[in-house]
Amino acid sequence: SKIDNIRNFSIIAHIDHGKSTLADRILELTGMINDRAKKDQYLDKMELERERGITIKAQTVRIPYTAPDGAKYVLNLIDTPGHVDFSYEVSRSLSACEGALLVVDATQGVEAQTLANVYLALDNDLEVIPVLNKIDLPSAEPERIAREIEDIIGLDCSDPLMVSAKSGLNVDRVIAAVVEQLPPPKGDPDAPLKALIFDSWYDSYQGVVVLFRIIDGTIKKGDTIKIFSTGKRFEVTRLGAFMPEAVDIKTMGAGEVGFLCASMKELGDAPVGDTITLADNPVAEPYPGFKPVKAMVFSGLYPVEPSEYETLKNALEKLQLNDAAFSFEPETSQALGFGFRCGFLGLLHIEIIQERLEREFEAKLITTAPSVIYQVDTVGGDSLTIDNPSKLPDPTKIAAIREPFVRMEIHVPNEFVGSVLALCEEKRGIQKNMAYITPTRVVITYELPFAEVMYDFFDKLKSSTRGYASLDYEIIDYRQADLVRLDILINGDPVDAFSCIVHRENAARTGRSLALKLKRSIPRQMFEVVIQAAIGNKIIARERNAPFRKDVTAKCYGGDITRKRKLLEKQKEGKKRMRRMGNVEIPQEAFLSVLKAD
Ligand code: GTP
Repeated sequence: SKIDNIRNFSIIAHIDHGKSTLADRILELTGMINDRAKKDQYLDKMELERERGITIKAQTVRIPYTAPDGAKYVLNLIDTPGHVDFSYEVSRSLSACEGALLVVDATQGVEAQTLANVYLALDNDLEVIPVLNKIDLPSAEPERIAREIEDIIGLDCSDPLMVSAKSGLNVDRVIAAVVEQLPPPKGDPDAPLKALIFDSWYDSYQGVVVLFRIIDGTIKKGDTIKIFSTGKRFEVTRLGAFMPEAVDIKTMGAGEVGFLCASMKELGDAPVGDTITLADNPVAEPYPGFKPVKAMVFSGLYPVEPSEYETLKNALEKLQLNDAAFSFEPETSQALGFGFRCGFLGLLHIEIIQERLEREFEAKLITTAPSVIYQVDTVGGDSLTIDNPSKLPDPTKIAAIREPFVRMEIHVPNEFVGSVLALCEEKRGIQKNMAYITPTRVVITYELPFAEVMYDFFDKLKSSTRGYASLDYEIIDYRQADLVRLDILINGDPVDAFSCIVHRENAARTGRSLALKLKRSIPRQMFEVVIQAAIGNKIIARERNAPFRKDVTAKCYGGDITRKRKLLEKQKEGKKRMRRMGNVEIPQEAFLSVLKAD
């Protein structure tokens, strides 16, 4: 298609402001999807995403569109993931576009991720069109929110698009604005091929499917391509676009967006952000800014039944095929036996993987508390990277420990400023800035240890601001801190899976709280269970569970057999997620107690 008639755009929004609903409505209005239940949003592919209302994998749709004046266009709508855990993918998707629709919920206004996404869009030199959504709701305040967009973001919002993505009201005007206000791509179809990979996934029939945006040059089916970072070569076996089903296209040129298959076996063959060029006429410089995604949070996954180790391994291998950010390697825990150390982008990513393992692969898992990566300098002069607290060397061997820090922006109505500051201070935060963006809304900027915000920060923020706060963060650097390992002993034996790394100042408090949490989550047994928290050789907390005296079934008077069976079944149910430490049975919740300890 002619480059001047192409429009490449994304929809960006704070979570729940209506991005998927608007995308869906656009596809419907342009005839791309017809009969389908109102609730299923086409762009959210996996059932899991739909249930959680988030978009994990970006997908793009090519929309042929005829304007009212008869001019024909090709609109490429590029879907972006909506959560901070996936911000690199968002950024790469945006760099495949010339413009973005900024959806703002007219009942809510500008939120942290609205701004974070706008910054990503502006960094990528996109033209941004504000869209006020949900104006069907009685509580919508479009005039006020339009002013907020002008004041805070500095976008012209004097004649804003006011839509209801739900009812479809004014969505036709949004499409017209995409054509009229967004610039067409620039690029030279005769230059050497330079195409940006902005998404890729594994398909069991096609192998790796790559979504790309051609910056310069032209690509044909049968071409031999080269992936810039690896130098690997592949023959293009399939070329096309999603409309929304895959449609084959023979040749694609500068400015176009499409997919290709090239007998790639793994996602590492086509990393997001990398550049595709032609093997026999390569471009000199890749598309800038490529960085391989790195897992930032690590957790141990263990089968509940040791005999299911191989099954779990197979499931992890399958999951990894489709998720380049997820990594795993075998590890052994004294307490849990054989399992895997797994790497994730963040906590949401852990939850998603865990749920998929349980749902799609019916794996029964014990998950250990997540940990960030620590950089350790030893007295002997070695540098170690520690992703498992139990691997931290003996304190006498450590010269320095560094932990990751995030820069966080929190948006909040001014009456909650006090509670937000208190929370950030409690989490060892360093205040960087505080600014009123409107007379009643404040942006607070903090630098905080990632380990402190990873656990319960978000929940605490929500509860202390009655749900009004929103946040966005990025990892900025590693900083030295006075950190120690807290160990837990059960009946005198250390349980490696319970070890965690904490700040020395908080160690005593965390130790007491953790011991108490464990006492409550470990059921009473036939014998006494003593739970201790220790730093090195020093015991800092002790709790005890007294033994049971009676058989649980005793209270059924031995008579009512169905009640008795029910009770035993219930116990069995509870056992599914238990592991035995020596002779003490420990339920799954116990392993996550550290998340909630403070
Ligand atoms: P994520 O995918 O989680 O980032 O959210 P999103 O921004 O894609 O939001 P989504 O489209 O899932 O919409 C969030 C909620 O708002 C859903 O319950 C929608 O039905 C509702 N919603 C979206 N647009 C409108 C609208 O115009 N009016 C009303 N009343 N509700 C809307």
